[in-house]
Amino acid sequence: MNFQDISEQRRAINFFDPEQEVSQESLTRMIELAARTPSSFNLQPWNLVVVREQEERETLKALAWNQDKVAEAPVVLIVLADRKGWQEGHPVVEQNWQQMLATGGMQPEQRDWFLGAAKSLYNWNEQADLAFAVKNAGFFAMSLMYAATSLGLETHPMDGFDHEGVRRTFQIPDHYWLPLLLAVGYRKPGLELQPAKWRKRVDEIVVRFDGGGA
Ligand SMILES: Cc1cc2nc3c(=O)[nH]c(=O)nc-3n(C[C@H](O)[C@H](O)[C@H](O)COP(=O)(O)O)c2cc1C
Repeated sequence: MNFQDISEQRRAINFFDPEQEVSQESLTRMIELAARTPSSFNLQPWNLVVVREQEERETLKALAWNQDKVAEAPVVLIVLADRKGWQEGHPVVEQNWQQMLATGGMQPEQRDWFLGAAKSLYNWNEQADLAFAVKNAGFFAMSLMYAATSLGLETHPMDGFDHEGVRRTFQIPDHYWLPLLLAVGYRKPGLELQPAKWRKRVDEIVVRFDGGGA
């Protein structure tokens, strides 16, 4: 399947087959493929909570506007965006630093520069760390969806849920923002999809505000 097929075939699926499990192997492969997502300084400020148990999915459904797909899909991922994922001492930041030293990408004397650069980009106002976390986790979430399509799986992204309720129920620490839930599974047998939704045209997407451009 090439990217054009993947892009055209991915749809937000509302009706999953509750009888068809997603194997651990498929889920692991999907996450491995998505893990190749690019990120700021390669800091990868994302994590996933995998919700598989029927009872937990029912609990999650009640916190997600009672959307049936949350309980019907065999797996729901809670995508987490780590607002602290740029800070000195964070395990991934330190692992990243060690990797950059090992590969020669950075020299030991550049540590202050590196930490200062991350701080200046992701800590310059109250929203900057949130923007850092959510943009990178958003790219990761998109990769998860395309990876799923490439593996014959279906997905549905959702931000219709009670953030604080999900945070409390799954005891998610405060430094994570929860950009979305992602239902993963197989399409309900016999399901007929509506035609693909409209999209903005290229000329509606490309803008200039300064009077310049072609
Ligand atoms: C971040 C995000 C949050 C969404 N939240 C919901 C949701 O809570 N419930 C829902 O039914 N659809 C939700 N959607 C699905 C969109 O409505 C859907 O992706 C869009 O209409 C385009 O349809 P398509 O994905 O099938 O191309 C969400 C999509 C995204 C990317």
